[in-house]
Amino acid sequence: MSGTSLDGIDGVLVDFTPTAEARLRVLAHRHGPLPAALKAELLALNRSSADEIHRGALAANALARSYADVVAALLAAAPVSAGEVVAIGCHGQTVRHRPGEFDGVGYSIQLNAPALLAEWTGIDVVADFRSRDVAAGGQGAPLVPAFHQAAFGDTGRALAVLNLGGIANLTSIDAGGRVVGFDSGPANALLDLWCAESTGASFDAAGTWAATGAMDARLLASMSDEPYFALPAPKSTGRDLFHRSWLDRHLQLADAGRLRAEDIQATLAELTASTCAAAVRRDAAGAAELIVCGGGSRNDDLMARLRRRLAPLPVVDSDERGLPAEQVEAAAFAWLARQFTDRQPASLPTVTGAAGARVLGALYPAR
Ligand SMILES: Nc1ncnc2c1ncn2[C@@H]1O[C@H](COP(=O)(O)OP(=O)(O)O)[C@@H](O)[C@H]1O
Ligand SMILES: [Mg+2]
Repeated sequence: MSGTSLDGIDGVLVDFTPTAEARLRVLAHRHGPLPAALKAELLALNRSSADEIHRGALAANALARSYADVVAALLAAAPVSAGEVVAIGCHGQTVRHRPGEFDGVGYSIQLNAPALLAEWTGIDVVADFRSRDVAAGGQGAPLVPAFHQAAFGDTGRALAVLNLGGIANLTSIDAGGRVVGFDSGPANALLDLWCAESTGASFDAAGTWAATGAMDARLLASMSDEPYFALPAPKSTGRDLFHRSWLDRHLQLADAGRLRAEDIQATLAELTASTCAAAVRRDAAGAAELIVCGGGSRNDDLMARLRRRLAPLPVVDSDERGLPAEQVEAAAFAWLARQFTDRQPASLPTVTGAAGARVLGALYPAR
C-alpha cells in the first residue's frame, strides 16, 4: 500500500485463517521507501503537465520496483515462501480521483505495473480495485470500510474507525452492523506539505512543531468554508482538491501574512481535527468509541486536538484493538485481494454510492 501521503510503502503478510483468538494474523510488516525522485514525480503527476502518459508509465515501472523490494523484505522476514502466498493485493499510487465527473462516469487513476510485479515476484497480483465500483456508479472510494467492519466490527455495539492518512476517512458501524463511510477531508496531506516547506522535514514528528503554534480562528473559518466538508456521503476526495493552491487561496483570504509558520501548522491540525470530529458527530453519533489508524495516529498534537473536540468519546489507536496503526490500510488491501480470490464482493454500496456490491480487482497471474 502506498497512500496519498507518499511517505513510502507499507507491506504486510497476512494469514486470514481465523483462529479462536483472532480474525486475521499479520505475519510480517515492512515499510519501504519511495525514492525521492519517484516521490517528486508522483506528486507532479497529480496535476496536469507535459507528457504525462510517458512519465506515468515510467513512474509505474519504478513503483513496481519499490513494491517488489517490499515483497522480498516481507518474505525474508517471515517463515513463508513465495509459493505459499496466494496473492499480492497491490493498490498502486492514486494520481487522479474524479469519479462521476465529466462524462458522468469519470475515473480514478492509480499508477501501477501489476504485470511487472507478478513477473518479478512470481506471485499472483490483484490490482485495480477501484474501477469496477466507479463503473457501477460509485466513488470507488473509500474501500477500507468493509475491512474495518471485518477486522473491528460485529461486536454488537456501534463504533467508528478513522484512518488518518494523507486524506482522512471515517467508517461508522452501527450496533446492527450497518456501515457508512466516506472521506472527511485532509488528514496529513496539507500538514506534511506546509511542514516540509517551512522546516524541511517531510512531516512534523508527533506534531511537536504544531503544538508550539497558535491556532488562528480566521484562517480556520476560511478553510472550514470549503463546500466539500458540508457535502453528504457518499463522497471521496484527494490531492485533486486539497492541494497547494487550495491552501494558498485560504492563506490569502485570511490575510495569513500576519501569522507565523507554526501558527499555520497549528491551524491546519485544527482543520483536520475539527472536520474529523464533525464527521464523527454527524455520522457516528452512537459510537461507543473511535478507533484511529494510519500515520496521523502517531501525531500526538493532532490526537489531542481530536480528543478535545470529541470528549467524552473514548479515542483509541488501532494498536489497542489488535492491529498497529501502520498496518491497517495495507491489511485492508490484502483483505480486498482475498475477497477477489474468493470472488466475493468487497464494495459497500452504502459507502461508495454504487448501484450494488461488486467483486473488485483484476488478476495478473504469475504463471
Ligand atoms: N511519528 C509521527 N508523527 C506525526 N505524524 C506522523 C508520524 N508518523 C506518520 N505520520 C504521518 O502519517 C503520514 C503517513 O500516514 P499513512 O497512514 O501512511 O498515510 P497514506 O495512506 O496517505 O500513505 C505521514 O506522512 C505523516 O504525516
Ligand atoms: Mg503511507
